[in-house]
Amino acid sequence: MTTRTWTPRTWREKPVKYMPEDYPDRRALTRTEEELARLPPLVLPAETRRLSTALAQVADGRAFLLQGGDCAESFKEFTTDNVRDTFRLILQMAVVLTFAGGRPVVKVGRIAGQFAKPRTSPTETVDGVTLPAYRGDIINGMDFDATERTPDPRRLLRAYHQSSATLNLLRAYSQSGYTDLTNLHRWTLDFIAGTPQGDQYRKLADSIFESLCFLSALHPTPDHASPPMPVDLFTSHEALLLNYEEAMTRQEPSTGHWYDASAHMLWIGERTRQPEGGHLEFMRGVRNPIGIKCGPTLEPDELLRLVDLLNPEGIPGRLTLIGRFGSDKVAECLPGLMAATRRDGRSVIWSIDPMHGNTHKASNGYKTRAFDRILSEVKSFLDVAASEGVHAGGLHLEMTGQNVTECLGGHFPVTEDDLSSRYHTHCDPRLNADQALQLSFMVSEKLRATKTPRAQAA
Ligand code: PEP
Ligand code: CO
Repeated sequence: MTTRTWTPRTWREKPVKYMPEDYPDRRALTRTEEELARLPPLVLPAETRRLSTALAQVADGRAFLLQGGDCAESFKEFTTDNVRDTFRLILQMAVVLTFAGGRPVVKVGRIAGQFAKPRTSPTETVDGVTLPAYRGDIINGMDFDATERTPDPRRLLRAYHQSSATLNLLRAYSQSGYTDLTNLHRWTLDFIAGTPQGDQYRKLADSIFESLCFLSALHPTPDHASPPMPVDLFTSHEALLLNYEEAMTRQEPSTGHWYDASAHMLWIGERTRQPEGGHLEFMRGVRNPIGIKCGPTLEPDELLRLVDLLNPEGIPGRLTLIGRFGSDKVAECLPGLMAATRRDGRSVIWSIDPMHGNTHKASNGYKTRAFDRILSEVKSFLDVAASEGVHAGGLHLEMTGQNVTECLGGHFPVTEDDLSSRYHTHCDPRLNADQALQLSFMVSEKLRATKTPRAQAA
């Protein structure tokens, strides 16, 4: 356990990877950070604590975590429809998973702040011209143009304001009665209405609706109207751009605790989880729930070291381990890691990201993922968890409510030839709503068949 003094700035004394260093005007960057630090928090500590409490239930095997949204949000694709459709998809998936698992589903979007991307190569070459790689709209622009690709501090503020507007919309939807279960049918996205998933969802919605009618007949409210049921949709993103996260970090006066007010939950990526690195240093000091991506090179000892650093007291719900191995490696890598955390005895959540270990290039050059491999990694995760006696706690997905053609396969198979027709992602290929619902039904059937034992709580 480390006792070194922590401040929101101590990460600056450590080596950091995947952060941009080529801002032409560093003073403008500093001024922007100062401005961000004066702006209102995007989320409040009390909300973040509500998520921590919900995640403690997941850690204890009594709930399930559904985390999903864009690989990278963008300024260009920011529309009301996009936000609403992602929200609807999360609601639909949560209904499917709740009904099957019989456990509450904690809903966390990769939304309202998921802008910065770690890029394996710092540059990109097209037709003999080499420019800095695109690193996400909070840093530079996607167009292959020298000006666009230059990091611009004004983008930090734009990302902040877009996150704020996104949160405003999400809060409005969740307070306005839209999320009321009696609206179950309205959440269906138009383009999946006639698909097998759409039909399966409609049948599920019919039977839930009947149960609700039955309940309200038993306990009628005076005006036959039920009060709106607000739904908590929490926000999350990768805490990659530490100067942004630092500027958004606030100390709660009543407790003296530090919270990163840019989102409820933050995660550390596969490429920035060095125990001695700046990302670990920053995250250990904030009270938000933390995710950590666990890829195929992670050894059990190193994982336990990360658990020591980030959750020395073993607070349930503090730490979510997000496996992302690839369908061909999960069965080999995951059992040892799960066994290590089980033996350690400190409470963690195990979740699975079946996206990032299953990316490949299609023959026509598009970056894509095969839906079958995504399904297969999730199935293996559920099997390994069952045999290790660990609660399969969650799903972490890149997905969108839009009818995109980015991942191959599904009931209405997207083929390589289809990829070009609606390929809109700003980074990695996402599941469309049809594929995401199909995955939810598969998980729900498996959860029903293999009721996993309660996780070992600390
Ligand atoms: C991501 O979740 O967008 C990501 C980059 O994942 P990973 O760190 O697992 O590669
Ligand atoms: Co991604």
